[in-house]
Amino acid sequence: MNKNCAIILAAGEGKRMDSNMPKVLCEVLFKPMLGWVIDACEHSNINDRCVVAGFQAEKVIDFVGDSAQIVLQNERRGTAHAVKCAKSFLEQHIDGNVFVCCGDSPFLCEKTIMAALDVHNKEKAAVTVITANIENPYGYGRIIRKNGRIVAIVEEKDAQDEEKNICEINSGAYWFCVKDLLEILDDIKPLNNQNEYYLTDAVKLFINNKKTASVYLSQNSLIAMGANDRLNLFKLNDVYRKILIEKFMKDGVEFLCLDGVIISPDVKIGKRTKILPGTILKGNTVIGEDCVIGPNSLIEDSIVGKGSIINSTQVYQSQIDNNVKIGPFCHIRPNSTICHSVKIGDFVEVKNSEIGAGTAISHLTYVGDSDVGKNVNFGCGVVTINYDGVNKHRCKIEDGAFIGCNTNLVAPVVIGKDAYTGAGSTITKNVPSYALGIERGKQCNVDGFSKKKLAGRKLKVKE
Ligand code: UD1
Ligand code: CA
Repeated sequence: MNKNCAIILAAGEGKRMDSNMPKVLCEVLFKPMLGWVIDACEHSNINDRCVVAGFQAEKVIDFVGDSAQIVLQNERRGTAHAVKCAKSFLEQHIDGNVFVCCGDSPFLCEKTIMAALDVHNKEKAAVTVITANIENPYGYGRIIRKNGRIVAIVEEKDAQDEEKNICEINSGAYWFCVKDLLEILDDIKPLNNQNEYYLTDAVKLFINNKKTASVYLSQNSLIAMGANDRLNLFKLNDVYRKILIEKFMKDGVEFLCLDGVIISPDVKIGKRTKILPGTILKGNTVIGEDCVIGPNSLIEDSIVGKGSIINSTQVYQSQIDNNVKIGPFCHIRPNSTICHSVKIGDFVEVKNSEIGAGTAISHLTYVGDSDVGKNVNFGCGVVTINYDGVNKHRCKIEDGAFIGCNTNLVAPVVIGKDAYTGAGSTITKNVPSYALGIERGKQCNVDGFSKKKLAGRKLKVKE
């Protein structure tokens, strides 16, 4: 059985971020930092997780859902105090190790977490601190070594001048032997310049108790990057945006230039797909092979099949099949399914609808709450009237139907197979298969009407 567990510290307010949310919910590449950290634990196979929430705990609880247990730290008195709030969680894992980390350092990866656990186990350590060497260590806890071994961690605010020159820093992530940690937790005292209970004091206490304190020095300084303010947050976005895009390039995705291209970490993109400038791909989006996405497109939590083209369009929580062509200037709203070989042209909005294979909706049309069959043709300016001010109703348009330009389809209504609607009709009754539904006044012409009316008119340009 995997006895290892994790405690993620996420109770801080993050005053310097000046946000109306807890700092750990601030986003890097559209994903809250806490989400990055929880996922890193998950990928490291640490399935028993506990998040310490405090500042605006309800928002943290809401985000965490069932991906971790929650304990509350009502008064923020430091990182050791936060861990103490999870004492009963620790007691349930007394025979294992606990990975303690900060919810505001998103780039800790499973590789580092597992490599550190390896060192921790080999050395039978009470604690293994994950550290990194960084150019500008300001603000971080510094690693104090003696004869190569860690002996203490000193916080910036408590450091002597020569200690401030140390570039090896505490990432804020550690493996602890749970039993050893529980033994010393109550011995940590707030005897420092911030009057806080520092988890980092555990190192000294273990050494005093003749226990082993180890270090896993990561070669990747990014793992320690955290965000305390907006500048840090921008830097995290900037740094990881490029890392991620380069990874996609290595996997065969094509980028002509990176202007305005932002891709979230959980997005997947197939080979030979071309991403054009101004493209934002968010959430759990999956793009197939051989697509062209952009310019200026936003796709969120959606699936796009192979060989599809999405041009200057926004797509939310929808599914788009193979060889679909959408855009420019379309809006595909949640819960839409666009089957293969569909063409959706400019200024078309689709919402909560299924569009059957081979259907064309070429211009200026709204399709909402509708079930549309195969090979349907929408003329220009068709509107499904799905909302009567109180309730939403559905339209059903069967295979092969031809909807004339400027048709209003007042739901609920069914247009049968291969049926037609006359241009300009407001259709309120079902149209049977193969029929023409037409609803408009007969045309009459008033002869010579304008001759008298326009007598004496001055034209800008001579006839
Ligand atoms: C901490 C470490 C420092 C390390 C740095 C890495 C301590 C004393 N210092 O400093 O050595 O280099 O992280 O980023 O541990 N939190 C709580 N409850 C509290 C206080 C903090 O849950 O009472 C949470 C915060 O939400 C945050 C994390 O713990 O996610 C770290 O707290 P923060 O105040 O940012 O610590 P640092 O000063 O950065
Ligand atoms: Ca921090």
